[in-house]
Amino acid sequence: MSLIREIDYGTPASASEAEVTLTIDGQEVTVPAGTSIMRAAQEMGTAIPKLCATDMMDAFGSCRLCLVEIEGRAGTPASCTTPVAPGMVVSTQTPKLAKLRKGVMELYISDHPLDCLTCAANGDCELQDMAGAVGLREVRYGYDGDNHLAEAKDESNPYFTYDPSKCIVCSRCVRACDEVQGTFALTIAGRGFESRVSPSQSEPFLSSECVSCGACVQACPTATLTEKSVIEIGQPEHSVVTTCAYCGVGCAFKAEMRGEELVRMVPYKEGPANRGHSCVKGRFAWGYANHKERITKPMIRASIDQPWREVSWEEAISHAASEFKRIQAKYGRQSVGGITSSRCTNEETFLVQKLIRAAFGNNNVDTCARVCHSPTGYGLKTTFGTSAGTQDFDSVEDVEVAVIIGANPTDGHPVFGSRLKQRLREGARLIVIDPRRIDLVRTPHIEADHHLALRPGTNVAVLTAMAHVIVTEGLVDEAFVRERCDLDEFHDWAEFVSQPRYSPEATEPLTGVPAEELRAAARLYATGGNAAIYYGLGVTEHSQGSTAVMAIANLAMATGNIGRPGVGVNPLRGQNNVQGSCDMGSFPHELSGYRHVSDDTARTMFETLWGVDIDPEPGLRITNMLDAAVEGAFKGIYIQGEDILQSDPNTRHVAAGLAAMECVVVQDLFLNETANYAHVFLPGSTFLEKNGTFTNAERRIQMVRKVMTPKNGYEDWEITQLLSNALGYPMDYGHPSKIMDEIARLTPTFAGVSFEALDKHGSIQWPCNEAKPAGTPVMHMEGFVRGKGKFVITDYVPTDEKTGPRFPLLLTTGRILSQYNVGAQTRRTANVVWHEEDLLEIHPHDAEDRGIRDGDWVKLQSRAGATTLRARVTDRVTPGVVYTTFHHPATQANVVTTNYSDWATNCPEYKVTAVQVAVSNGPTEWQERYGDQAMRSRRIAREEPVLEAGE
Ligand code: SF4
Ligand code: SF4
Ligand code: SF4
Ligand code: FES
Repeated sequence: MSLIREIDYGTPASASEAEVTLTIDGQEVTVPAGTSIMRAAQEMGTAIPKLCATDMMDAFGSCRLCLVEIEGRAGTPASCTTPVAPGMVVSTQTPKLAKLRKGVMELYISDHPLDCLTCAANGDCELQDMAGAVGLREVRYGYDGDNHLAEAKDESNPYFTYDPSKCIVCSRCVRACDEVQGTFALTIAGRGFESRVSPSQSEPFLSSECVSCGACVQACPTATLTEKSVIEIGQPEHSVVTTCAYCGVGCAFKAEMRGEELVRMVPYKEGPANRGHSCVKGRFAWGYANHKERITKPMIRASIDQPWREVSWEEAISHAASEFKRIQAKYGRQSVGGITSSRCTNEETFLVQKLIRAAFGNNNVDTCARVCHSPTGYGLKTTFGTSAGTQDFDSVEDVEVAVIIGANPTDGHPVFGSRLKQRLREGARLIVIDPRRIDLVRTPHIEADHHLALRPGTNVAVLTAMAHVIVTEGLVDEAFVRERCDLDEFHDWAEFVSQPRYSPEATEPLTGVPAEELRAAARLYATGGNAAIYYGLGVTEHSQGSTAVMAIANLAMATGNIGRPGVGVNPLRGQNNVQGSCDMGSFPHELSGYRHVSDDTARTMFETLWGVDIDPEPGLRITNMLDAAVEGAFKGIYIQGEDILQSDPNTRHVAAGLAAMECVVVQDLFLNETANYAHVFLPGSTFLEKNGTFTNAERRIQMVRKVMTPKNGYEDWEITQLLSNALGYPMDYGHPSKIMDEIARLTPTFAGVSFEALDKHGSIQWPCNEAKPAGTPVMHMEGFVRGKGKFVITDYVPTDEKTGPRFPLLLTTGRILSQYNVGAQTRRTANVVWHEEDLLEIHPHDAEDRGIRDGDWVKLQSRAGATTLRARVTDRVTPGVVYTTFHHPATQANVVTTNYSDWATNCPEYKVTAVQVAVSNGPTEWQERYGDQAMRSRRIAREEPVLEAGE
């Protein structure tokens, strides 16, 4: 294996369809109009020396190294800023150019430390390469004049250093931050010789506006901005392309290695979801893989008050299997179940649900999508016929109006957030529907046209009021509706939404959204050109989550904003493989490809291949399993890669359910919160230690490639296979590619998917088949998958969770950029410098009423329970609303959330909890008790080493 070096074409590709032919160094080349001479030359294999140009951003033309001569033109123009023209004759190498380039390089080198041999970037430095490329052999100016060699390094960022002595002021970092990331954290301060890169107002990187995405580090042609891991470990010597294991954007990275050691993750320019960009999590937060708390040996214990005992894999697996068999023999076939993981690969997820259906012999399988995007599955399947988003991320480049509802892309889906910001800076319009002022409402060079700061829990009322405006003001795309949708259902719906009770004026008192603002937003959505809706858990995690998804689908159909690039309904999926875990049949009622277990034809396919009977009745959902456990009927569970104690609502109920079981098997990297209630711990493997595939929010199946040996000894799919064999249901997959072959055989939407096909196409967006082997970037182009689009009546039913004198505020929850979900991984990385604890955001008016000052400890009390955390007083939230994240187990935010859930899918209503907030002295009794119990539960009894005589 070698290091993958992607070609840098110097300037971005031109999207023009017109072609231009020119001659470069005597060779004819044809490129799209608008291409730079530099890129055209590189496309035919000629690398013109360059320093300030790179193909991730527009040409700048500052270094003057890329000069060329053009017949009939005076001077020596910069090839990066000069576009090609028909018939142009260009020379890239002449004695005159060589002399000029040498002169430029001499100037750069005279103010540069000559420590190449000991520099961390030695061998990966464009300045060094260019000195060689132009044949620089001496520097006439000497090295003793004014220079910047003694300037101090900024090492404040945990992941990279800034060494100004090595800066050539090419501005690539500044432009990367502006154009690629969209944070505008860097400037070139000072003038002329004194000019230097400066984060924010000459602050250290850590305290500046920098969000540590790494784009500037990647763009820097010198060692000025360098990953600390490269400084510590040295230059990588081979690399493998793989997929980020954090969020549903699905960024592709080159894992750059030295032997078995990961040196750095570099975003892959050919990654179709990220196009060479990254966020702080995928780029830098991978250190958890080696964290000292990672468990690599299997452990068992007879009861949860005992310490863990390390055992062999054989003992752990046979103990777990015999316990499940004992429980089923005693309490019946339905008394056990399992939970698949959206963090694991498709192959691993498929295998867990297969184990449950085939080896346990029931359908008691569920997944974390239950608690996030199950309403998306239900809502989009009902209206369009497919449980998935309609577009690819590239589609954002054609968006003219973006609607962001219940999502916070710059924190939750940061690389998509950056791509969206690029489009907004190009002029696309923006509507934000969110109770909180997310960054996109106002961020450098972007301001939302409308921010509908609705009251939590009123999405359906707002969306239906938007439909009211569209229908009653005659903004429906009638031709689209007539051709593509069920007309009778449309008429019923149009009549429903036209009712006066859904006018913006009538809904304003409920939703808190000013009627005129809502009307203006609805008009913009309907008439502003290509309009795309992007939504997140702020839509789904409600008692009317499925209704809100269908209300969104109604809007898209009514305005014809579906079935082409730049439009559509786009759920921003949370975890890396939440789409995949749903596709793989992780729900108790569905086999892979969303076929109901009662569907005889589908079930027979599985039964024939698997050689077992499958129960035609749906099994238990997570909540039902826990309820049944509390009632004494459900006794054993196999949980792969989920921390339900921290992630699921009403923590006390989850704890009671787990505590009531006789065998809880947790397969994970760390002793997570759920493992406090476990009897068997099977150590899991990280995404760096396994082969397989993830499916991102665009339905894009991408390869995950193993770059190191699993520290625990097995990839996760192998552990499931061991367990299944021990349970008496044989599995013998030699490699995950064989599991994918089985998935493709059993799942029509995955027809033709294989590891070979993925290697060939790079990625595949399901649905795919022989006619479309690389899949379908935009769905429902010619017609809806279900036939005619279905308009659904979306009556607004207020949640039962009501505010009142005891609980006058509404709590809503979300994520922040540096942390990920329950934080099991990100808390075990240096990302904690940006978020050491969860804070409660509260509006200044509400804080003042309660005597709360910024930083005070406060008690957050709901009908379900109470917790304490510190307050942040901010007007990002509206009066009456408080907000927190749930990344830290000590916060126990889900002690406060209730048992209410979506009527169709049981997705918990995380986003609306009536609470009271008051100043407090410290942790609640539950927090203290829980903390003590967690500490006790994590004890590991290791055998003392046997001492030899004399030792
Ligand atoms: S790391 Fe990202 S946000 Fe920070 S300065 Fe660099 S480009 Fe800007
Ligand atoms: S830090 Fe790097 S990218 Fe930025 S101006 Fe200096 S040399 Fe160029
Ligand atoms: S945006 Fe998501 S997929 Fe991309 S690097 Fe960040 S966490 Fe990973
Ligand atoms: S690369 Fe063209 S001017 Fe710097």
